[in-house]
Amino acid sequence: MDQELKIPEHIAIIMDGNGRWAKSKGLPRSVGHTNGAKALQRVVEACKKYNIKTLTVFAFSTENWGRPKEEVDFLMNLFSRYLTNQFDKLIENKIKFNVLGDKSRFSPEIQEKMIKLENATKDFNEFTLNVAMNYGGHAEIVKATKEIAQEVKEGKIAVEDINEELFENHLYTKGQSAPDLIIRTSGEQRLSGFLLWQSSYSELYFPKIHFPDFDEEQIKLAIEEYTKRDRRYGKV
Ligand code: IPE
Ligand code: IPE
Ligand code: MG
Repeated sequence: MDQELKIPEHIAIIMDGNGRWAKSKGLPRSVGHTNGAKALQRVVEACKKYNIKTLTVFAFSTENWGRPKEEVDFLMNLFSRYLTNQFDKLIENKIKFNVLGDKSRFSPEIQEKMIKLENATKDFNEFTLNVAMNYGGHAEIVKATKEIAQEVKEGKIAVEDINEELFENHLYTKGQSAPDLIIRTSGEQRLSGFLLWQSSYSELYFPKIHFPDFDEEQIKLAIEEYTKRDRRYGKV
């Protein structure tokens, strides 16, 4: 592997373009989602190979509930199957699995599978896979604000105690590093609510490829692009 590459510690991906990928092949959108799930498995393997520590992927936004019922139902079935199929594989590969988002809107069956997988993998520390599901950056910030307001109301903390560190401890990504690189596939150049707090100094990369076509080569290209970036954090 290339010696000169600068490896990001944390990569986040907005897995976009499943529908367009399918449309371009004359297939239903559902086939795009199934192939997106396959691409995710390739990407996890590639990230591990490149020694990336954390991969966060956006699988379903708080706004995606507004899609046609047929598509939402298909995605819920796909998530449910993924949570079952991946159980042994994640454990075998020592991957810590986290859901970012409000689990309570999912069916009890899916919630149970999410919690089971989180618990079974919580002690792994080599590689973390965060899957953002029913996630929205606004919703996450409102959640944190409510929890902090409640603590102030109960006298557990004072208003003066509120700072960035305390705020971060109320986000779904508590205890994790911010993403170094955020990739959005399919050419759209927006965050659509993804990791709004955490992305303040992330490098952004928008490859013109639909997520179902994403693979190890694309991860390599993304790392090569990241290697060229000069992260200044407001300094000179
Ligand atoms: C991303 O692909 C998957 C989800 C949002 C669930 P899309 O379904 O948004 O695909 P496009 O953007 O319509 O092509
Ligand atoms: C963002 O993609 C959410 C996921 C990839 C899960 P969307 O396809 O929902 O975003 P917009 O509607 O193009 O902004
Ligand atoms: Mg989309």
